[in-house]
Amino acid sequence: MPRTPTAARGAIITGWGTALPDKVVTNVDLESMMDTNDAWIRERTGITQRHVGGTTAGLSAEAGRAALDHSGVDPATIDTLILATTTPDRTVPASASTVQEALGLSCGAFDVNAACSGWVYALVTAHGLIAMGAEKILVIGTDTLDRITDYTDRNTGILFGNGSGAVVLEAAEGAGQMLGWDLDSVGAAESALFAEVGGVLEMEGREVFRRAVRLMADSATKAMESAGVVADDISLVVPHQANIRIISASLDRLGIPLDRASIVLDSTGNTSSASVPLALADALDKNRIADGELLLFVGFGAGMSAASAVVRWSPDAPLFTARSAPEAS
Ligand code: ACO
Repeated sequence: MPRTPTAARGAIITGWGTALPDKVVTNVDLESMMDTNDAWIRERTGITQRHVGGTTAGLSAEAGRAALDHSGVDPATIDTLILATTTPDRTVPASASTVQEALGLSCGAFDVNAACSGWVYALVTAHGLIAMGAEKILVIGTDTLDRITDYTDRNTGILFGNGSGAVVLEAAEGAGQMLGWDLDSVGAAESALFAEVGGVLEMEGREVFRRAVRLMADSATKAMESAGVVADDISLVVPHQANIRIISASLDRLGIPLDRASIVLDSTGNTSSASVPLALADALDKNRIADGELLLFVGFGAGMSAASAVVRWSPDAPLFTARSAPEAS
């Protein structure tokens, strides 16, 4: 199991931002598009509405700009832009390139596709780059799932929506925020949830549900073990927002009460790569996270992928400066 090396240069989140398209589709709206009803969707998923429209690059630029403004970081100093998405605007190039141009950044830019685990994959990747010398990274998670969802199919059409969430990650003195992490994939379960190129999402709902509960709990446990903490130490879980029953069942396995989770899926639906940063921003905006508290990010998705990270919230930790760099020997 990977362990975060104690000698590695760490990072802290210094700003965050979100973007949701204006257009909202409620459960009641869906009743005229497929054989379903508002009460069933709310009871079986916890979702009341979702946002549709926009482009992956457009929403990413909006959330990314908000995160940059919030952090106060000069965009010219961003080293790298990582965009987690499973719905790029084009097959080629990476949507990160379009976002880079829109934000006026001069840096490396690439997409990460790990479905709904994508943003946690990107966050862990960004920490690795900072350990290797990068100083400021913009980590965005965005999906425009309306482009690959059949809104006449009640099996999938009730679940998905569009959105974006972003954070600015800056190098810190010392070990930084991330105490432990886990990245997982079970390729043998690929057929449970997929979309062909140019196609729509096809899903075996019960199979995804069953695997998701186990995968989330297993991945979270590995991340906590790698951080050397236990479930009782976690102040807030920031889970992938797929279905309230999946979140509740996986937290049950972990022995963490549901009121210790940040939940936004009632108003966003499943926004894939955007769902963890949207839930993080919501908790921060509501002052649910205090300095020094432990957060557990946990995602799962098609692949089937899973990713978790344990973070000690410490926005005021001293930032790395050239002066704090160790002398070269
Ligand atoms: N509206 C009304 N009734 C419905 C609907 C609907 N949309 N869908 C199914 N039903 C009916 C079924 O016909 C069935 O009726 P019956 O008992 O008379 O046969 C009953 O409701 C129960 O059907 P199930 O398929 O067992 O419903 P379930 O409780 O499993 O809920 C759901 C379905 C919501 C899809 C659930 O399985 C689920 O959330 N699965 C995980 C999906 C998921 O999280 N996907 C995203 C993964 S992340 C990523 O990478 C994108």
